[in-house]
Amino acid sequence: MSEAGGDFQAIVLAAGKGTRMRSELPKVLHEVLGLPMISHVTRAARRAGATKVVAVLGHGIERVEAWLSASEPEGGYAVAEQREQLGTGHAVWVAADALRGGASHTLVLYGDVPNLTAESMTTFVRDALTADVPLAVMTAVVDDPTGYGRMLRDAAGAIAGIVEHKDANEAQLEIREINAGIYLMRTDFMLAELEVLMGQAAQNAQGEYYLTDLVARAAQSGGALGWIIEDHGEIQGVNTRVDLAAATATARARTNHAWMASGVTMIDPAQVLIEPDVTLGQDVTLYPGVTLRGRTTIADDAIVEPGCWIQDSSIGHAAHIKANSYLNQAEVGARTAIGPMAHLRPGASIGADCKVGNFVEVKKSRLDDGAKAGHLTYLGDAHVGPGANIGAGTITCNYDGESKHRTEIGAGAFIGSNTALVAPVTVADGAYVAAGSTVTDSVPSGALAVARGRQKNIEGWVDRQKA
Ligand code: UD1
Ligand code: MG
Repeated sequence: MSEAGGDFQAIVLAAGKGTRMRSELPKVLHEVLGLPMISHVTRAARRAGATKVVAVLGHGIERVEAWLSASEPEGGYAVAEQREQLGTGHAVWVAADALRGGASHTLVLYGDVPNLTAESMTTFVRDALTADVPLAVMTAVVDDPTGYGRMLRDAAGAIAGIVEHKDANEAQLEIREINAGIYLMRTDFMLAELEVLMGQAAQNAQGEYYLTDLVARAAQSGGALGWIIEDHGEIQGVNTRVDLAAATATARARTNHAWMASGVTMIDPAQVLIEPDVTLGQDVTLYPGVTLRGRTTIADDAIVEPGCWIQDSSIGHAAHIKANSYLNQAEVGARTAIGPMAHLRPGASIGADCKVGNFVEVKKSRLDDGAKAGHLTYLGDAHVGPGANIGAGTITCNYDGESKHRTEIGAGAFIGSNTALVAPVTVADGAYVAAGSTVTDSVPSGALAVARGRQKNIEGWVDRQKA
């Protein structure tokens, strides 16, 4: 039994070409908040309790199938191929084998309608099951119904059928209740009716097999439920890049409202993008132009300033990520300050109470608690001990043209400005390196390494030069 109180499987129609996207990428792989549209749909269906998801694919089937096999739970989905797009009825029919013998009910969804929530699916399914009808259809009352199928109701207000825009007469074109294209049907009713439909020639303006024809059939045999959705953002379809941006705006607003409700401050939520798998603590502050991607987590009281891009990273309690920093697969400890304009690359692990300042790049390196690298530095394949201080312009020369080598900097060590540390090399605990050094040999604990040309002052040189 699903959350909605009955067994249902989902079918996602996604065979269409998406010509108006003008893209090499199949339409349903275009992303909304970093996740392909089709995955928004399959995830919501699963969260609503679908026992199985069947995707009907056609254009770009190889790419979509490759994505599904990488992202969907194994055994939890099936693919049916629709070679020619002969209409929505035909699209469901090609999946008949995958649907037959499955759940008692089937939820029909579109792969290019990414914002329908699991909550709405659950309520829709529950109400449809309670009504105990062969078919329920989701509808909306809109200001501009152009292009949509119109809902036909009888004198008593019951659903009688659907007429497509292209088949509608003038009076029908005035109807503002439209078909959202989402249905819950008894699986056996649906397959039996589709078999009848497919046995006839398509009789409509588009020469297509219309799934919508099943609505009138249900109305005549057991009744059809019309279920009106209030939030039109949820049933927004994507046909163009303009629609894609609108769908992203809808998803962004919904996500950001939920985070604000849970205690996150956003100076301007219209300018913050948070992907679905991000988690945020309480009293996090996000400034405009922040993008949080992948599996990023941000702990309580952290501040992220304008223009930061943070992907698959974890940010500790009360950490401060200053403006225009770029983090990817990095860890930042509690109370640590990063940036402005810092670059933390994969494997950067910064401890608590550290400081990584402007124009500092860190890759595959660990900075222990209290370490500081304030300015203009590259740390790659390095370990920096607790409390060590890395002077401005320090570079770990980790690459010799063939392989990478490690740099070890001990606890409390002090690296003077403009130092090149030629790896593999170790600067032991508490050791000092003089500014401007090129360090090729390890520095023992307690020592000062000076590795640069000695200064010579040539007295009277300037006057002689002028004479
Ligand atoms: C359909 C409905 C219409 C409704 C509208 C809501 C029919 C006949 N009409 O219109 O009443 O108002 O949705 O958006 O169902 N698809 C396939 N194979 C096909 C045809 C379509 O997989 O052969 C997929 C498309 O990729 C898309 C979805 O089904 O994801 C809907 O197809 P689309 O052509 O956009 O729907 P409409 O015909 O405009
Ligand atoms: Mg169409």
